[in-house]
Amino acid sequence: MTEIKTRSLDETIGRRLEGKRILITGTGGGQGAAAQQLFCQHGAHVIGCDATPGAAGATAAELSEQGFHAEGHEVDLADPQAAKTWVETSIETLGGIDVLYNNASAPAIAPFHEMTLEQWRFTMVNELEIIFTVTSATWPYLMKTGGSVINASSGNASMGVAPMGFAAHAAAKAGVLGLTRQLAAEGAEYGIRANAVTPGFVESPGTRGMPQEIKDYFSQRINLLPGAIQPVDIAYCALFLASDESRMVSGSEYIVDSGTNGARPA
Ligand SMILES: NC(=O)c1ccc[n+]([C@@H]2O[C@H](COP(=O)([O-])OP(=O)(O)OC[C@H]3O[C@@H](n4cnc5c(N)ncnc54)[C@H](O)[C@@H]3O)[C@@H](O)[C@H]2O)c1
Repeated sequence: MTEIKTRSLDETIGRRLEGKRILITGTGGGQGAAAQQLFCQHGAHVIGCDATPGAAGATAAELSEQGFHAEGHEVDLADPQAAKTWVETSIETLGGIDVLYNNASAPAIAPFHEMTLEQWRFTMVNELEIIFTVTSATWPYLMKTGGSVINASSGNASMGVAPMGFAAHAAAKAGVLGLTRQLAAEGAEYGIRANAVTPGFVESPGTRGMPQEIKDYFSQRINLLPGAIQPVDIAYCALFLASDESRMVSGSEYIVDSGTNGARPA
């Protein structure tokens, strides 16, 4: 197994991912775009993708203009063959892979008494199956060199939230946690680490359209800290998990939820 060497703090300031070859899914906006920017700023070469036409390309183009090594492709990861092709061509471009960040997802939301099997299946495919598809295509490369897998879960995986209806999302994201721990167990002998980032309610394109009362519910009744969680708050946590600073961290869940999991506001 390849041992990752620790570096002194001075060496890593501002360049915490120097030379790392990284794939991030869902870079068309929100947390994926924030992570691609932050990772590039720390010296990584990052290839992203997104199902929304032109979105990942736009994120990457802005970074390329600033001199960073970034690419973004239009891929619907719900198509397993398209997902595999994106992984393989991207790894060829990068000359290998050090970090895979499974960030993309799309839930169908409905109260449980109205949720259809179609909505349930859509969510399972776009929140859980795409992690299987992308990770299994990446796994043979990671087995050769070791690396870090980061999976996006959700606070909803371990806490039910009444408004709107998140049954499928909660189940899929709990599945992400189980899968992450299993990847950690099976990957360890190859130097592969796997961890989950678990966001609370984040202000992103994915939540922008939600009714104001839902946003108030989170900010006033659920969140402990003042202010809203921004995509970059999640990206900073992922930065640690992507870097060698977390070389002894695997099978863990990192919660970035404004304190929701631990306490309640006054
Ligand atoms: N925003 C929140 O409050 C919140 C809370 C908990 C967990 N999360 C999780 O954090 C991650 C990032 O969320 P975000 O806030 O940036 O949401 P977002 O909706 O803004 O971004 C997700 C991106 O994934 C892309 N995507 C979805 N399905 C895809 C597919 N099949 N193929 C390719 N791309 C696809 C979307 O087009 C979108 O650009 C997600 O996994 C999400 O479930 C978000």
